[in-house]
Amino acid sequence: LNVGVIGCGYWGPNLVRSMVETNRCDQIFCCDRSKTALAKVVRRFPCVCPVERMDDMIDRCDAVVVATPVMTHYEIAKTILLRGKAVLVEKPLAISCTQARELMELADANNATLMVGHTFVYSPPVRKVKEYIRTGIVGDIYFVSSSRVNLGIHQKDINVLWDLAPHDLSILLYWLGDNPCRVSAIGRACVGALPDVANIHYYFPSGILANLEISWLAPSKLRRTVVVGSRSMLIYDDTNVTEKVKLYDKGVDLKTPESFGEYQLSYRTGEIVAPNLDGTEPLLLEANHFLDCVETGAQPETDGQMGLDVVLALEAASHSMRSGGRFVEIDYSSAPVPELMLEERRIA
Ligand SMILES: NC(=O)c1ccc[n+]([C@@H]2O[C@H](COP(=O)([O-])OP(=O)(O)OC[C@H]3O[C@@H](n4cnc5c(N)ncnc54)[C@H](O)[C@@H]3O)[C@@H](O)[C@H]2O)c1
Repeated sequence: LNVGVIGCGYWGPNLVRSMVETNRCDQIFCCDRSKTALAKVVRRFPCVCPVERMDDMIDRCDAVVVATPVMTHYEIAKTILLRGKAVLVEKPLAISCTQARELMELADANNATLMVGHTFVYSPPVRKVKEYIRTGIVGDIYFVSSSRVNLGIHQKDINVLWDLAPHDLSILLYWLGDNPCRVSAIGRACVGALPDVANIHYYFPSGILANLEISWLAPSKLRRTVVVGSRSMLIYDDTNVTEKVKLYDKGVDLKTPESFGEYQLSYRTGEIVAPNLDGTEPLLLEANHFLDCVETGAQPETDGQMGLDVVLALEAASHSMRSGGRFVEIDYSSAPVPELMLEERRIA
């Protein structure tokens, strides 16, 4: 396979490295409109072939990875799909659900693979938690609470919601196998014009509540998610090197009343299990999965539909944030809110 990577800034070189490490690419082309970025990636990976213009590269590739700023995803992915080539677009897929839907339609019409770089879905700890949920070990999930904060790079084109929440949303969608139906979000632009801290509450049709705390302003890095269920609880801490997942046999049960008016809770504290996890880097698993899909025509796990669902949930949260935390229903069948899209473009 010949693979191209467009965008060699902060994240792109990691994708180039993963493609090199798959050992499955005949040729890897790199494209960036910045000569400095291109020269840097070539110095780091002498095996890659630098290209300045995207158009000169696409026809020579079987598949293309897009790691450019979010506002450019739609135009670049559209160009690639129109030429019938497979594309892996970094998260989030696009800046509006209209754009995301159009990319899905283009992929269908051109019989081309469309995958979104929701890397955490390929991460062994995240998959372990999915197994605990799927096999009933966690029981009925009551709520999920996550903190994704650090002194992060302030992006120029998007706020913290569009930068960090795609990770938590893709994990939630994968774990729960469902989409949130309602959201309330608040945020603040502390430094600069775009919100750099936010608190988001997503509600799922099953009653599950998910709280996301995201911030580019924090003294230390937290990547911690707590899942509380009726049978057990767990903590997924991606910054923990040795024990990323811990399963707690802890909970509170409401005893069946023996007499009228009796109300008794019993507390359970049992074993704590830290499972042994595959240490393969998620990005390498993602790169291999993309190449598998390109070769076999299989549907990616993080396909255009997941990309669209994440964008819909982000759009609704943006809308809520701008109205000071008002509840916003997330309608998966309806057209986008026009003024919301205009607002997104204005911010950009
Ligand atoms: N999956 C993850 O964990 C993860 C982590 C970080 C960033 N990302 C995503 O990666 C993408 C890129 O983010 P970044 O932080 O690397 O941005 P960046 O600004 O550091 O790099 C973007 C690069 O794209 C180049 N570029 C812009 N427009 C171009 C065009 N039309 N043609 C060719 N090159 C162009 C720029 O010159 C720059 O070098 C974003 O979508 C971001 O959300 C994903």
